[in-house]
Amino acid sequence: MTANEFRKRYIDFFVSKGHVEIPSASLIPENDPSVLFTTAGMHPLVPYLKGEKHPAGNRLVDYQKCVRTGDVDEVGDETHLTFFEMLGNWSLGDYFKAESIEMSYEFLTSELKIDVSKLAVSVFSGDDDVSRDEESAAVWLKLGIPEARIAYLGKEDNWWPAGGKHPGPQGPDTEIFYWTGDEVAPEAFDPENALWVEIWNNVFMEYDRTPEGEYKPLAQKNVDTGMGLERTVAVLQGKANVYETELFQPIISVIESISSSTYAGNERAMRIIADHIRSSLMLINDGAAPSNKDQGYIVRRLVRRAVRQLLNLGVEVGGVEPIAIAAIDTLAEAYPELVTKKTELIEALKNEEAKFGKTLKKGLKEFEKMFASAGHVSGEEAFVLYSTFGFPLELTEELVREKGADVDIDTFKSEFVKHQDLSRAGAGQKFAGGLADHSEESMKLHTATHLLHKALRMVLGDHVGQKGSNITQERLRFDFSHDAKMTDDQKREVEAIVNEAISKDLPMTFQDMTVEEAKEAGAIGLFEDKYAQMEGKVKVYTAGDDGDVFSREICGGPHVDKTGKLGAFAIKKEEASSAGIRRIKAVVGDKAQQILGSRG
Ligand code: ALA
Repeated sequence: MTANEFRKRYIDFFVSKGHVEIPSASLIPENDPSVLFTTAGMHPLVPYLKGEKHPAGNRLVDYQKCVRTGDVDEVGDETHLTFFEMLGNWSLGDYFKAESIEMSYEFLTSELKIDVSKLAVSVFSGDDDVSRDEESAAVWLKLGIPEARIAYLGKEDNWWPAGGKHPGPQGPDTEIFYWTGDEVAPEAFDPENALWVEIWNNVFMEYDRTPEGEYKPLAQKNVDTGMGLERTVAVLQGKANVYETELFQPIISVIESISSSTYAGNERAMRIIADHIRSSLMLINDGAAPSNKDQGYIVRRLVRRAVRQLLNLGVEVGGVEPIAIAAIDTLAEAYPELVTKKTELIEALKNEEAKFGKTLKKGLKEFEKMFASAGHVSGEEAFVLYSTFGFPLELTEELVREKGADVDIDTFKSEFVKHQDLSRAGAGQKFAGGLADHSEESMKLHTATHLLHKALRMVLGDHVGQKGSNITQERLRFDFSHDAKMTDDQKREVEAIVNEAISKDLPMTFQDMTVEEAKEAGAIGLFEDKYAQMEGKVKVYTAGDDGDVFSREICGGPHVDKTGKLGAFAIKKEEASSAGIRRIKAVVGDKAQQILGSRG
């Protein structure tokens, strides 16, 4: 079934169940300056979830354009997209859990004829705030989902928005998974098994979390569901990933032909180009022309990143137009305005391509020079690349990483922002994302990164050094020098060491020292890099106290004050990053508990 057919089947089904189809809202949220983009179907409906009357009634269905840029540097793998569509059906104080689950089940098994043996579900396990969602589990059992195919998970997984830490409408959810393996699906559902792919999320929004952290009942009980169109279509078509569906193949074919290269061997570059041009097109269509501010800046970044990937494939200025035309074709049925506005949209993209095309090659040469002389690029130099050659900061960051070198993002960005005028600095903060984010969660992950770094050196040896670090709300990512895949035993040993440091609840403190003093105190850090040339003092964070120092590292912070706050630590993934560099993704808290627990 094609994406066009699928959208229609979904809408028609829910219309037959008394829902009214509403049009997709703009990607640029109206009256909500707190976020840059519409990131989920429920987003434009927040006032109605809180009790305002919706003009179309209390049963709604739509396909909503969404953009998520939090993981933009992951685009290029098989799963991440910046622009995607979310199918959703809503009850605004009308039906609740039973009817919602029954309709989802009917759509999947009767309408799409999916064999129930390929389905599994998860429901909320309950915690101190809200009890276990027995009601949803009972409905699933009644419909014929066996107990072994029901997983009970906590707020990080079965709650929306995930974690339940932000104020606003929210509640437990039940997620539906589809088995994508070639073999018969295992009897028991293991949420860690990647062959089970989540296709649908039904959220039961009955709470409004106050800023003080209290879960108050909402004026009405709502249902908010979300099904990612691209991913669901890919799994139903039996395709390995979204890029193999007809939503992307025609775009990729054009990239192949204009670059005279094949997708095989150039997957990452071609996926980035296809994804970024598609997103830029949709964003420009909703009014976000490339600029230096807010949404426009993100569009600029997306287009410029695509243009640079095109140059890597040997395509100079002029490649964007045929790619955009192919992208419009794939989306024209769902968004006919793309066709009406085609000339204008392509013009905007071509302008941006031309602007950057003029300086890109010179800028790359300049970058090479800067890098060759110091083995890194300073925030000041990044600013020169930005102001003279139009390199978005994130592009410079990416270029540095591609060289296998580390970027101390905090210093790099703050130094960069210093060079911007004040109005720009505001925009800078908005897209800085991880940087501006000093939430408890990211501090925990930051502390976990130090413990991990030390544990890796204990297990693998002192050749291990940090090559990169990135933290999102969800996980840490740590790149380090080591030239072999880690064995399972090594991974378990590293986890055990970190978990021991957590259970000792060591204090995290810092002192200002000169680089010499830091070295003498046994601090690990980035000596060969920029710190070596620093005259003044550096901050050194210590986990542990004088009697029992676990790790000491040069770092700007911030960290949690006690390692016990991490709760637990688990490695999710260990893989190659580039030659001689390995990458670990790891989690803390409940997420880590679950992984450790599921290993028995
Ligand atoms: N709002 C829910 C989600 O985005 C459906 O997953």
